[in-house]
Amino acid sequence: MDKAIKKCIEEMSLEDKARQLSQVNAVIVRAETKAEITGKDEGMDLCEADTREVGSVLNFNGAADAIAVQDEYLSKSEGKIPLIFMQDVVHGFRTVFPVPLALGCSFDPSLAEACAEVSAVEAKYNGVQVTFSPMVDLVRDPRWGRVMESTGEDAYLNGEMGKAFVRGYHKGGILCCVKHFAAYGAAEAGKEYNTTDVSERNLKEYYLPAYRACVEEGADMVMSSFNLLNGVPVNGHKDLLVDTLRKEWGFDGVLISDYAAVKEMIRHGYLETLKECAETAINNQVDMEMMSSSYIHYLPELVGEGRVKEGRIDESLRRVLELKQKAGLFENKYGETDAKRAEEVCLCPEHRALARRAAARTCVLLKNNGVLPLSAEQNIALAGPYAAEKNILGGWACWGRPEEAVSVYDGVRAALGREVVCAAGCGGKLLDKDESGIPAAVAAVKGCAVAVVCVGEPSECSGEATSRADLRIPAPQASLVRAVSEAGCKVVAVVFGGRPQVLTEIEPYCDAILYAWQPGTEGGNAVADLLFGREEPVGRLAMSFPRATGQCPIYYNCFNTGRPRVPDSIENVSFISSYRDTLNAPLYPFGYGLGYTEWELSAPRLSSPVIGQGGKTKVSAKLKNTGSRAGETLVQLYIRDRFASVVRPVRELKAFRRASLPAGGETEVCFELTEEMLRFYTASGKYESEAGRFDVMLGFSSENVQTCELILEK
Ligand code: GLC
Repeated sequence: MDKAIKKCIEEMSLEDKARQLSQVNAVIVRAETKAEITGKDEGMDLCEADTREVGSVLNFNGAADAIAVQDEYLSKSEGKIPLIFMQDVVHGFRTVFPVPLALGCSFDPSLAEACAEVSAVEAKYNGVQVTFSPMVDLVRDPRWGRVMESTGEDAYLNGEMGKAFVRGYHKGGILCCVKHFAAYGAAEAGKEYNTTDVSERNLKEYYLPAYRACVEEGADMVMSSFNLLNGVPVNGHKDLLVDTLRKEWGFDGVLISDYAAVKEMIRHGYLETLKECAETAINNQVDMEMMSSSYIHYLPELVGEGRVKEGRIDESLRRVLELKQKAGLFENKYGETDAKRAEEVCLCPEHRALARRAAARTCVLLKNNGVLPLSAEQNIALAGPYAAEKNILGGWACWGRPEEAVSVYDGVRAALGREVVCAAGCGGKLLDKDESGIPAAVAAVKGCAVAVVCVGEPSECSGEATSRADLRIPAPQASLVRAVSEAGCKVVAVVFGGRPQVLTEIEPYCDAILYAWQPGTEGGNAVADLLFGREEPVGRLAMSFPRATGQCPIYYNCFNTGRPRVPDSIENVSFISSYRDTLNAPLYPFGYGLGYTEWELSAPRLSSPVIGQGGKTKVSAKLKNTGSRAGETLVQLYIRDRFASVVRPVRELKAFRRASLPAGGETEVCFELTEEMLRFYTASGKYESEAGRFDVMLGFSSENVQTCELILEK
């Protein structure tokens, strides 16, 4: 341990130590009286004395505020240890990038890394030393609004994207906190903050790997989550927080609780008092308590009673002081905060250009009967509540401002250099019912060759506390799509949302569907680039799209069951695993997405159809662009372990590769498949491979593959 840190710890009282392990909203540090505190932050039972000394603040307002908070804090503090400033910089700071689920659809870690780096540059000059990102919760249920913050339903993809975020934040100059440890995304029924119950095997196989990948990539902090997991709130899980995170993975950084999650162990019905919450959390090595005050109120007393060892507190304190040291706060109490530099870099042309490129590469073309790309000569109109909407920034838009964003209306007019008809037709709120504006909107666009109809869910309807029980496009918007189609226009639907939505009702009336997610500051320009073919849609789904909400949770790497529906249909449904009122398959599967050209892939070949332990083989195939324009596609490698000591999924994504070819161009795509990539947690609980037959598949989505067979020998 650094000598200075050791000396600092030795000189601190128990009370000061407890306060260093606490984080509050910045406004609380500046509040002068208890009334002001409780007035500003419900449930925060901090007395005035508590705000004299804390270790960290979150949710402050940029460079000037950060400097003022630090100065005011240090002027009152006896300990003179600078605060460390943390914020949710999740997909951009002032320049807002596509939401992480959209970035997951790029299948391009280098793009995620670039976006994270720019986010970090804008954030650090605005006073942020640590971001509460990446969020790598595995998600399988789009009813849960926080799927927006994840990169999807595949643990491998989440790990690759999460590591890219970690690298990008570090390159840009801030520290990062991977969250929400663990399995918060398994909330039952997709209901926010709901119970999670995950088998040991599923935890190890699906829910934990991405957090571990980020820890091993160097994430500086981990955040423990709100959820009840297998009967115990996460902050009460010694097995997870100590045995797995600390002992098995060797993580020695700061573990911070989610917002008041330590205190919520009482509401969960797990502990009775705030004092027990403090004892349990600190002994589970939760180093910092966010926005509840059990540490401040009870750690000194718990040490006096021998229920918590001072050495345990000192270990957490060391981690927090080392974090501040890493952030450079002992050299400069403001870190890299610099209001002038902040103004120079935020929304600069380079950052906007990256935001535009990222938005174009994360949109997913779900349907196209040839209507796209459009030509500037065509008579085009815009309709729908999201055509002129500038708040397409998504949740956690941090300092992003809708007025600085580009709507589809802005982007299309800029692309065409002329005015276009734009008729909202109805409201865009989830529960809007009014359809009275539809006839006028139809009249406005009637006669146009193509109507670009922009629909979806509001930006604020995905993210935290935004679960939905019905994922359909709201009725007025669906009616508008249908009415425009029946008026004789070709319909290009552009859909906004932070999660997969049910498009089944509008699909038949659309000649094309472009899923734009919440594309961020440059969303409208990116959509225009795609509509007019300046950019090709290259996004592929990182999360399955259900055809009905009742199919959720729905994900590609499911199990076959003993009565699989083959082929998928709703005829003769007796005694097989299916629904009587819809197909089993998602409307659009994991890995799916269209471009503007056509592709052919030959059947995969193996350099060695038989391998042994430690062995490997090359999987290759011929790829051809059979369309009339240059294009880019994503070739995906899946496996299926046919028979094993525990049943294996019908598909497991193992690798992916982008390929760009001119019209008529051909190339060979090649992947290395190793015995190590065939390993899983077997019935014995060991992580190993088992001899037997494997399907090896190459394709353009989880459902569009060609297969060959690999034998793994003992
Ligand atoms: C929120 C979220 C978490 C976020 C934290 C600080 O409740 O659950 O993702 O980082 O509080 O804003």
